[in-house]
Amino acid sequence: MASSSSLSLHLLLLFAILAILATLIESKPTFQLPGASFYKSSFKQAKAPKPKIPYTAHYFPQVLDHFTFHPKSSKIFYQKYLINSHYWHKGGPIFVYTGNEGHIEWFAANTGFLLDIAPKFKALLVFIEHRFYGESMPFGKDSYKSAESLGYLNSQQALADYAVLIRSLKHNLSSESSPVVVFGGSYGGMLASWFRLKYPHIAIGALASSAPILQFDTITPWSSFHDGVSQDFKDASMNCYEVIKGSWAELDALSVQKEGLAELSKIFRTCKDLHSADSALDWLWEAFVYTAMVNYPTEANFMKPLPAYPVQQMCKIIDGMPPETTKLRRAIAGASLYYNYSQTEKCFEIEHGADVHVLSGWNWQACTEMIMPMTCSNKSMFPPSGFDYKDVEVECKKKYGVMPRPHWITTEFVGNRIELALKRFGSNIIFSNGMQDPWSRGGVLKNISSSIIALVTKKGAHHVDFRFETKDDPDWLVELRRQEVDIIQKWIHEYYADVRQG
Ligand SMILES: *[C@@H]1O[C@H](CO)[C@@H](O)[C@H](O)[C@H]1NC(C)=O
Ligand SMILES: *[C@@H]1O[C@H](CO)[C@@H](O)[C@H](O)[C@H]1NC(C)=O
Ligand SMILES: *[C@@H]1O[C@H](CO)[C@@H](O)[C@H](O)[C@H]1NC(C)=O
Ligand SMILES: *[C@@H]1O[C@H](CO)[C@@H](O)[C@H](O)[C@H]1NC(C)=O
Repeated sequence: MASSSSLSLHLLLLFAILAILATLIESKPTFQLPGASFYKSSFKQAKAPKPKIPYTAHYFPQVLDHFTFHPKSSKIFYQKYLINSHYWHKGGPIFVYTGNEGHIEWFAANTGFLLDIAPKFKALLVFIEHRFYGESMPFGKDSYKSAESLGYLNSQQALADYAVLIRSLKHNLSSESSPVVVFGGSYGGMLASWFRLKYPHIAIGALASSAPILQFDTITPWSSFHDGVSQDFKDASMNCYEVIKGSWAELDALSVQKEGLAELSKIFRTCKDLHSADSALDWLWEAFVYTAMVNYPTEANFMKPLPAYPVQQMCKIIDGMPPETTKLRRAIAGASLYYNYSQTEKCFEIEHGADVHVLSGWNWQACTEMIMPMTCSNKSMFPPSGFDYKDVEVECKKKYGVMPRPHWITTEFVGNRIELALKRFGSNIIFSNGMQDPWSRGGVLKNISSSIIALVTKKGAHHVDFRFETKDDPDWLVELRRQEVDIIQKWIHEYYADVRQG
């Protein structure tokens, strides 16, 4: 099971982490348009606070190919975007969320921060869906069919979409001089920061939350992601870390035994008998990785409903079990918190997870431009594994018939020696990161200039600042958001002062 080739395949799946958002959504029914009820229909699971004010959905005729003058490229497709103008005073700021890999209303529902701050700024809120996700499918159902269509799915086209749409919207609103600030979390955060650098004439600033723009090439150590996950568990309890670290060998040993899969199916409480131990490994691995990502200080329902500080809760379960219980059983009990916090699962659907990833747009992006090398060092609690560009090549050629361009992102966008590059270029970007989030290791964690600012919180998790405020928010989170609001306010004041000066 833990052969090196299956592990590297396993790591390929890892690229799909950001896309978990997308895949979760893709399996859900499409929602009704527009109005307040769409949150209910598309976020059935959501226990998190519902947006107080609905967004209205619109569809913008967007150019398929911004960069090639070719008869075929002038095709248009309908790009979805959401608007909330409740707080807006004409001429006031426009806050744009640069959508990432999934249905845009999901990001709107999980970015309550913008609704919370809109009244203060009298801002117009706009969430733009990323091409090839949600309803913004250039070729309808055939969009993911082949490289012919998927070729138009990349971050540069997406950024150009945002630029074109924002210009059109401002024109239609007769609000050309409104300052635009872009916001994004995760991959959306990468897009927001890149947008500010590429289109400074369209956005006056960017708040990029948990944006791992340095997770490419060799900028960030390849093992840092899994080391980050492991650190969270170590910080919670050394015993918990050791139990999880020791569980893989037990899983491996069981899987090669006669009747091993049947035994594994039993102890994992699977709904259907396992065909391979790999899916059991993935199931555990996902629980630990995602729980670390969303180690939020309050109860939340981002990917799944979870209690406050779920890593600590998971470790409490693991530490509370009798020491004679096998490590594997203890690890499974811990992971069950992630899958069964609602206490409603009768059994675990362990095997259907793997193929969910196959048709996602993110898989295409991960096979072409978004190559983020990752390994597991022996310091991590995961089975040690390496990374080989060759494996990605083979896999992606097989899947799509294309060759990955692993160094394209760092050619197209800033990455290597970012401090040197941006010290005297660019301005008005906030990179916020929470160190509980393993993606933070690939983020910008140091201030680069007086206006390219890193806000780092020790206890923060994956774009925690973007969540709706709650009465239980700890002081550091309140303070983080306050700092962000102050900085954005400053950008806007400066912009208006510059406009007045002509
Ligand atoms: C602006 O108006 C034009 C003409 O009605 C329309 O085609 C376009 O979609 C509008 N732009 C946006 C962003 O809605
Ligand atoms: C989920 O939790 C409930 C309540 O504790 C429990 O009865 C059920 O067995 C759990 N499901 C699984 C698959 O472990
Ligand atoms: C862990 O890896 C390092 C570097 O590859 C190596 O020097 C060390 O011996 C390893 N430790 C263990 C316990 O395997
Ligand atoms: C960056 O500067 C701001 C003040 O402008 C400060 O609050 C913040 O802590 C600094 N970030 C880091 C990572 O030192």
